[in-house]
Amino acid sequence: MSDAPAAAAPAPDPALIARAAAVLRAGGLVAFPTETVYGLGAAALQPGAVQRIFAAKGRPADHPVIVHVLDAAALDAWAIDVPAAARRLAQCFWPGPLTLVLRRAPLAHDLITGGQDTVGLRCPAHPWARALLAAFGAPIAAPSANSFGRVSPTLAAHVRADLGEKPAGRVDLILDGGPCPVGIESTIVDLSTGRPRLLRPGTVTRAQLQAVLGEPVPDAPREAPRASGRLDSHYAPRTPLHLVAADTLAATLAALAGQRVALLAPAALLPPAGGVPAQVAPESPGEYARALYGLLHRLDAVAADRIVVVAPPAGADWEGVHDRLRRAAVPLPTAR
Ligand code: TXA
Ligand code: MG
Repeated sequence: MSDAPAAAAPAPDPALIARAAAVLRAGGLVAFPTETVYGLGAAALQPGAVQRIFAAKGRPADHPVIVHVLDAAALDAWAIDVPAAARRLAQCFWPGPLTLVLRRAPLAHDLITGGQDTVGLRCPAHPWARALLAAFGAPIAAPSANSFGRVSPTLAAHVRADLGEKPAGRVDLILDGGPCPVGIESTIVDLSTGRPRLLRPGTVTRAQLQAVLGEPVPDAPREAPRASGRLDSHYAPRTPLHLVAADTLAATLAALAGQRVALLAPAALLPPAGGVPAQVAPESPGEYARALYGLLHRLDAVAADRIVVVAPPAGADWEGVHDRLRRAAVPLPTAR
């Protein structure tokens, strides 16, 4: 692919990692970088600590959280009836941006599972996440480190601006490991029903999953296990965001005349400099995913009336990006 490699993450700082592990042991919250987005971590085996995640995010208590583990040995600790397909996917994509949903073992208490009979497991690749898991020596429950429904953080600064660090904020410690190299949340595959199902697309693509499993991986039916990432409105900036086809951009901007519009579009479609606040859309799916949430945070910060995003190209490799944009978007106001 034409994707430029992500900048290497700064090496984990051993003193900070030790402090973070101590915070987790004491039942506190640590925001930490993963390769996808920053996570809001708590000791997975301490229900009281996991409870704090929900309070800090303002997240409904019946939403499950992903358990982050150091390696595939954790599959049999947290899940039962682990199918061969799950082991193959773990072997191919772990550590990496893939979450496996499996039938839960007793270790997976109700706050982790949202009261369902499944558990989500992910083995992150980011050096800071791995250093933290190793120093803490136990699994870490972590959703994305944002307020419920908001854009996920891909920089420590995003977490500071949203949840904040104590005493003024809600997180005990925010680790800064640089920008997240993948940029959108992990691909989630449900393997709890005998047939693999895609719960959330990501940069591990459907085609890659199908190639490894040798069978189709269709979308999960909509009422399948609750996943907040599957809510229609999610990952949304505060400013209303509209997703438009390239050939309707001019008409859209004309219809919104008089309003302050911020734009995310391919370079060729951007109006001359100085017209509207604008960001250039990256050209490859990997670069787009990596930049997406940072761009949305920036476009949100200009306090425009509306954000208009030109839909990226169609294509299987773009599925994760399209999914996040679709969930961030609201319909255009109807013409009067
Ligand atoms: O890349 C990621 O997955 C990031 C980083 C921090 O690891 N985490 C993340 O967590 O995106 P969160 O909570 O923001 O999104 C995880 C999604 C949620 O939609 C949740 O409902 C779903 O995974 N999930 C977790 N456990 C599940 C389960 N047992 N069954 C179905 N969905 C589950
Ligand atoms: Mg999230």
